[in-house]
Amino acid sequence: MKICCIGAGYVGGPTMAMIAEKCPNIEVCVVDINQERIDAWNSEKLPIYEPGLDALVAKSRGKNLFFSTEVDQNIKESEIIFISVNTPTKEYGSGLGQAADLRFVESCARRISEISEDNKIIVEKSTVPVRTAEMVQSILKSTSKGLHHQVVSNPEFLAEGTAVQDLLCPDRVLIGGEDSTEGNVAVGKIAEIYAKWVSKDRIITTNLWSSELSKLTANAFLAQRISSINAISALCEETEANVDEVAAAIGADSRIGSKFLKSSIGFGGSCFQKDILNLCYLCRYFRLPEVAKYWEQVIVINEYQKERFVTRILDSMYNTVSAKKIAILGFAFKKDTNDARESPAIGICKRLLEEKAELAIYDPQVPKESVLSSMGLTEDTAESIVFCETAPEACCHSHCILILTEWEEFRNLDYESIYKKMKKPAIFFDGRNLLDLNELRSIGFIAKGIGKA
Ligand code: UDX
Ligand code: UDX
Repeated sequence: MKICCIGAGYVGGPTMAMIAEKCPNIEVCVVDINQERIDAWNSEKLPIYEPGLDALVAKSRGKNLFFSTEVDQNIKESEIIFISVNTPTKEYGSGLGQAADLRFVESCARRISEISEDNKIIVEKSTVPVRTAEMVQSILKSTSKGLHHQVVSNPEFLAEGTAVQDLLCPDRVLIGGEDSTEGNVAVGKIAEIYAKWVSKDRIITTNLWSSELSKLTANAFLAQRISSINAISALCEETEANVDEVAAAIGADSRIGSKFLKSSIGFGGSCFQKDILNLCYLCRYFRLPEVAKYWEQVIVINEYQKERFVTRILDSMYNTVSAKKIAILGFAFKKDTNDARESPAIGICKRLLEEKAELAIYDPQVPKESVLSSMGLTEDTAESIVFCETAPEACCHSHCILILTEWEEFRNLDYESIYKKMKKPAIFFDGRNLLDLNELRSIGFIAKGIGKA
């Protein structure tokens, strides 16, 4: 059997690498219109950083795992086609700033329809609004040449930074299909692939719409927990309650659970904000404004948390950071990824630049180009930013250190000697609950971590 995946991104690449490793009898080809990305997948330096991914790709690449820009040929030859292209928030026209931009999904559907010479199973891997499969089906029907393709929804729940582990041991695999004999056959074929390494009781099958909506709902619930604990962190700071203690105390209740209760400078990443905006847009479209308003508040609190962090920095630095060197440790939206999409670091750095601070940025994996482009800057317009090769270099002679990503290496820095090389009075902000702040206090830091006393 041959399968292909359109979109060699953070989702398509790792997912297909896992399928290739677990199903040696299936030929897996990941195709993408971006030549540079495909070249990187075929090189020693993969385009995305994920622990364990290099080894996983190395096991199958060139055997039953291929990366190519030959989109049409691979569509033609494959029995199953995964669509894993990006579905960003719309930046134009109707639904601006809220709805998902489905033009890439639509163009994939058109291409598949034009190119195919036999019946295909088309799998929506991209996160899409509920009822997108209807649009895909109608495109396929309009130019079907008498063929009967099946559309299946199989959203991906992996989190970046733990993608390989999440793919290897998923909590569940969700597969939604059309309620018909052909639909059941198609769902069965996709389930068979995962059953090679995932136990059957973890493979959930539903109708198409439940599957599409479950993905948006899962992300909305996860983000909601973060906004909930971040909202409580503001109250903790006013009342001398400790948000970590509160999180541990409530998380011990098995009905609440301990995960996703870490107070932070706000959630980032390509999914949470986009998917909640999309959920709100859908609610308004279906005339449910109260439901839309309920979920919108998750984003409102996320923005509030980031702004609160900037305000605390300014408050602690006599209300001015002008010409002060601020060390930024970490720019990725979370540890163990080179992805800076929607990272809280973007807004925080932009605000500090507006306040005329000098930034010294260090991240172990995010390239300088991504940092600049995420802030809408170029080398020429970024004269107040220095990119550093190490964390101590970024911290040297700084007035303040901001840890914006919880990379493990920041735990083990020699803060005592870093502190000696800082401007006095030095201020340290730990936005991610990374370090034992008492320890930092004892060596002289004025610690003002968000969510901390
Ligand atoms: C994925 C999903 O697709 C998205 O809906 C979900 O919410 C998050 O995960 P991701 O893998 O992170 O997105 O996206 P990205 O890394 O941007 O990769 C998408 C790839 O698709 C890009 O390499 C892009 O070049 C490619 N693409 C896009 C095509 O090959 N063809 C197109 O028509 C459009
Ligand atoms: C998320 C979902 O977890 C995953 O299931 C889905 O497929 C894609 O979206 P991802 O965005 O890759 O995954 O990472 P995640 O671990 O969920 O973290 C998202 C953001 O939330 C990060 O900025 C992280 O720092 C933040 N976060 C997470 C918190 O602030 N506190 C927490 O307790 C957990």
